[in-house]
Amino acid sequence: MKLGIDFGTTHTVAAIADQGNFPVVFFSSPAGDWYDFFPSLIAIRAGETRFGFEAYEVIGDPQWTVIRSVKSLLKHIDRTKQLEIEGHSYGVLKLLVDYLSAFKRALRHASSIDSNPLSFKTSVAVPANTNNQQRFVTAEAFTSAGFDLLNMLNEPSAATMEYTSSVFKHVERSNKKYLLVYDLGGGTFDASIAEIQDKTHRIIATEGLENLGGDQFDEILAEMVLEQFNPRPELTFGERVRLLELAREKKEALTPQSRTILLEWHPNEGVPLLVRVPVKDYFDRCEPLVQKTVEVVQNLAKRIDSSNDLEEFSAIYLVGGMSSFPLIARNLKHIYGQHKVKKSHHCNSAVAIGLAILSDRESEIRLQESLTRHFGLWREADDGESLVFDRLFEKDQPLPPRGEPALVLRRRYRPSHNIGIFRFQECGFIEDDRPAGLVTVWNQILFSFAPGLEGTNLLGLEVTRYEHPFDFEVEEIYSLSAEGEISFKIINHHTGYSETFQLTRTSGIG
Ligand SMILES: Nc1ncnc2c1ncn2[C@@H]1O[C@H](COP(=O)(O)OP(=O)(O)OP(=O)(O)O)[C@@H](O)[C@H]1O
Ligand SMILES: [Mg+2]
Repeated sequence: MKLGIDFGTTHTVAAIADQGNFPVVFFSSPAGDWYDFFPSLIAIRAGETRFGFEAYEVIGDPQWTVIRSVKSLLKHIDRTKQLEIEGHSYGVLKLLVDYLSAFKRALRHASSIDSNPLSFKTSVAVPANTNNQQRFVTAEAFTSAGFDLLNMLNEPSAATMEYTSSVFKHVERSNKKYLLVYDLGGGTFDASIAEIQDKTHRIIATEGLENLGGDQFDEILAEMVLEQFNPRPELTFGERVRLLELAREKKEALTPQSRTILLEWHPNEGVPLLVRVPVKDYFDRCEPLVQKTVEVVQNLAKRIDSSNDLEEFSAIYLVGGMSSFPLIARNLKHIYGQHKVKKSHHCNSAVAIGLAILSDRESEIRLQESLTRHFGLWREADDGESLVFDRLFEKDQPLPPRGEPALVLRRRYRPSHNIGIFRFQECGFIEDDRPAGLVTVWNQILFSFAPGLEGTNLLGLEVTRYEHPFDFEVEEIYSLSAEGEISFKIINHHTGYSETFQLTRTSGIG
């Protein structure tokens, strides 16, 4: 069975490919209710774990620690990292694999899929500005949980595919059009511009805010509730999670007509109190968060269309659960007009549907993504006096279309060290010629320039810089694949000795 899985911060959503249709999978909770998602939750108690709906059931139970956003574990991990909870230690990669295994069991035994498929040929997505380590850990977790991984895409790229299949099919396809995808989920915001013509989707620019999502809007509401108590109650971890869940439910129930949020809550197991929050006050507090996303949209749109009327765009396409939050469309329509802002009919599942489409029609659709982060390395300059950051591949560099050869970049020079030290870094943006934003530091790679050292263990050897460079050349060859993976080969042209490193595989995650 071919399917797409959107492993989201709040919801894990699946859509399957079924004879040209891409239905969203429904999951049955233990109480017997149907949901079009599986909650991205893990609950932990003294070495015991529960996942999804079963974790949801123990929110607020003081014996259990509920991890509200499983995906956020990916943000600051390497796969060897351990999570310490109440004296017990849990491997982060194992938790992810166990979560995805529970999700797979739910697909087989508690979902709307009526067959018991032999395998799940799956496309998955990651937020656009995810770094390579997180991409690799995600792929590893899915594979270890028994999914047959076909593709890994950026979330907004998947959403463009849902757009073309559900909206764009009614439009003259041969006209080149741009689409701006706005995806505000539970934990992340991503926006990208796609150029769509016939069956070719080219993602030409992407921006994201890694820590902005619905969770922050829940926190604002929870804060407004707490402010109404005097003295302000001290909450245990479990009570805080319960309040945030309540806030989330109230936020999701808001409509453009809502005036007051009524919330029944008891701090510290006390008598429930009715708390009233005026919607206008809540919206005022949320406005700065919404503005941050709007700024990203405006900066992106300017790259294609400096006039701000978005003549060249077919739409700003809203996906992600938070696109139902009234302030979002209101702000965007105010700037770009009613007719330009369109909301997906499947805003909770657009990414999963787009992925299912790609799993099914891989050979028909030409998807070309672009790099979402800068990648380069530090080099010595001025005879070893200073360091400069050599940007090998820049953000928004188009990746080769799928199925086509990798993009190759070469650097050839006469070395002046006995050992070359390669310090690769990945980053969100460049400021004063230095990596900035979220910077990922890769493991160092060592290569022997001095012929006598070839093939030996270089760790711990002293690095010497010679006054004059060697009289032979070495060459670095970088290959960037359609999936954004970078391989690095280095050759000594004098001796013919070479080594190759898969940067996504050997670096960073130990
Ligand atoms: N009708 C609604 N009104 C307001 N917010 C909503 C509504 N429905 C869902 N949300 C919010 O949308 C967020 C979840 O969106 P979504 O399912 O797209 O996120 P995700 O894919 O799990 O997360 P991410 O993409 O950030 O990893 C939650 O904060 C949820 O409360
Ligand atoms: Mg999402």
